[in-house]
Amino acid sequence: MKNLMTTSISVAPMMDWTDRHCRYFMRLLSPSAFLYTEMVTAAAIHHGDSGRFLRFNDEEHPLALQLGGNDPEWMASATSKAHDYGYDEININVGCPSDKVQSGQFGACLMAAPDTVAECYRAMSDVTDIPITVKTRIGIDDLDSYAFLVNFVETLIAAGCQKFIVHARIAILDGLSPKENRMVPPLNYDRVYRLKRDFPDLEIVINGGLADIAQVEQVLQYLDGAMIGRQAYHQPYFLAELEQHFNPQNSLPDRRDIVDQMLPYIDEVLRGGEPLGRVTRHMLGLYAGQLGARAWRRSITENAHREGAGSEVLINALNAMPIAA
Ligand SMILES: Cc1cc2nc3c(=O)[nH]c(=O)nc-3n(C[C@H](O)[C@H](O)[C@H](O)COP(=O)(O)O)c2cc1C
Repeated sequence: MKNLMTTSISVAPMMDWTDRHCRYFMRLLSPSAFLYTEMVTAAAIHHGDSGRFLRFNDEEHPLALQLGGNDPEWMASATSKAHDYGYDEININVGCPSDKVQSGQFGACLMAAPDTVAECYRAMSDVTDIPITVKTRIGIDDLDSYAFLVNFVETLIAAGCQKFIVHARIAILDGLSPKENRMVPPLNYDRVYRLKRDFPDLEIVINGGLADIAQVEQVLQYLDGAMIGRQAYHQPYFLAELEQHFNPQNSLPDRRDIVDQMLPYIDEVLRGGEPLGRVTRHMLGLYAGQLGARAWRRSITENAHREGAGSEVLINALNAMPIAA
């Protein structure tokens, strides 16, 4: 039977947030949501220590690598390496508005250069049979008409793209920070619904502002998938609730059990020479909205960076909560 959760629910690529430690933690909360890496630039993979950027834990599947870049040769070279690592999807970033990305002429500004994205797409398809997808906005700056979006999508369809993840707001490339670009331009879900109506054979995943199960249910009436970003990071238990909703045979996990399951992972990370905080920073929201959430956060924040800190920091944080968590 098709796993509705894997086919419909994904966690957004988020720089500095959805690293492999975060994804390992999220996977415990949701056995089947599709996870995305942070954006990795094709240049970094092409020139640098590709293992550092590409390695992941087996438990993270199903997992997509998000690539940033505009050079077909480098995008293909990065794809070929990602293929060897066993990713389940490669996604091209056409949504990031940061200055750094713009100065490299990729990310959201590529919406104005669909032929370049299509060229990358073709070069990447030549080296792998892993599905290649595109994450985009509905427009950039004053290029915000539906016709502009359709032209972008049609150019990519001609290159073979079948799946689009659409962040349902435009990006303003001049004058707004990346953070503002996730809040200020209004969400326009209707635009994404229209795209699916006009291209029913495409797989269209919507992203932007999804924060509860009712909203996710609503968009899935019209679309193939829902990608969750900030809510999944700030309130990771939302992923467990989604999993249980879409896969009712999965009961809701106990948060404490999730913590217990993180302990051996953390021990392994520490043995590998990484500091505790690299993992625990992603777990601060585990009790969000629950009694004791503040004590949990504070105890970890105050103690995780101390010299020699180990997984006992999490046990102590549980004990610091006002009622037995
Ligand atoms: C901290 C942070 C980093 C992000 N980094 C990326 C990225 O690397 N690639 C990308 O396509 N989008 C990135 N995004 C945007 C998210 O993928 C998503 O499109 C956006 O947050 C809207 O979804 P949401 O309302 O569910 O959070 C980032 C968002 C945040 C909050």
